[in-house]
Amino acid sequence: MSDIEEVCVAPSVLAADFGNLTGAMDEVASSTPWIHLDVMDGHFVPNITIGPPVVASLRKHSDAYFDCHLMIENPGSYLEAFRDAGANSTTVHVEVGDTSECIAQMRELGLGVGVALNPDTPLSMATEFLGDIDLLLLMTVFPGFGGQHFIAEVVPKITEASNALVAHGHHYLIEVDGGIFPYEAALSAGAGARVFVAGTAVFRASHPADAVDEIRSAALEAIARATTRRSHVARNDDRP
Ligand code: DX5
Ligand code: ZN
Repeated sequence: MSDIEEVCVAPSVLAADFGNLTGAMDEVASSTPWIHLDVMDGHFVPNITIGPPVVASLRKHSDAYFDCHLMIENPGSYLEAFRDAGANSTTVHVEVGDTSECIAQMRELGLGVGVALNPDTPLSMATEFLGDIDLLLLMTVFPGFGGQHFIAEVVPKITEASNALVAHGHHYLIEVDGGIFPYEAALSAGAGARVFVAGTAVFRASHPADAVDEIRSAALEAIARATTRRSHVARNDDRP
């Protein structure tokens, strides 16, 4: 898994001009090491985007960490092709099934291991995998399209995933995806998210690199506030 400091913004090129993806990646290269690639098959979600050949072409132009979000049925049949194309991590949806097999295959292939949950899928659907993954992707919109509104009802699930991380000593990063602007990044960061996927907020901004910095700052400030709150609570608990 890519070493990230405290937080990481992962710009989703779904909101960029598909005729100039390398240009889009160049626009954010100085502000973040990650790129989020949304792979859709027209079956698991009602939209079709890119596959391994496009990832391979992008790889020739970029050293970024390619975080490939597979919104596809039967992902196990494609993991090797994504690895060969230059993906660094792949994330599969638990809703499609065969998650244990996919996790084992991703490890074997040397990929970062991600598992994703739709907004209405409970964390309990992923409990058995939490000790084996690097990335837990909590969708904050229903997958399939960019430009949707953040679903705030997912925030308690972020907190639950963060509590599970601490309680069981797991190591996954919590990633949120969908409708993330600085305000939503702050809300999610306060609950425990550390990787922030942002398409519209970054690539529809006049200065994408600045938009990345604004999302990162909002998340870091929220984490600092949450840490201060926790230490106040701890101090009060210590009082006789
Ligand atoms: C939705 C995708 C997201 C999406 C995010 O299915 O998984 O990555 O591109 O885009 P915005 O930030 O526009 O919601
Ligand atoms: Zn995505």
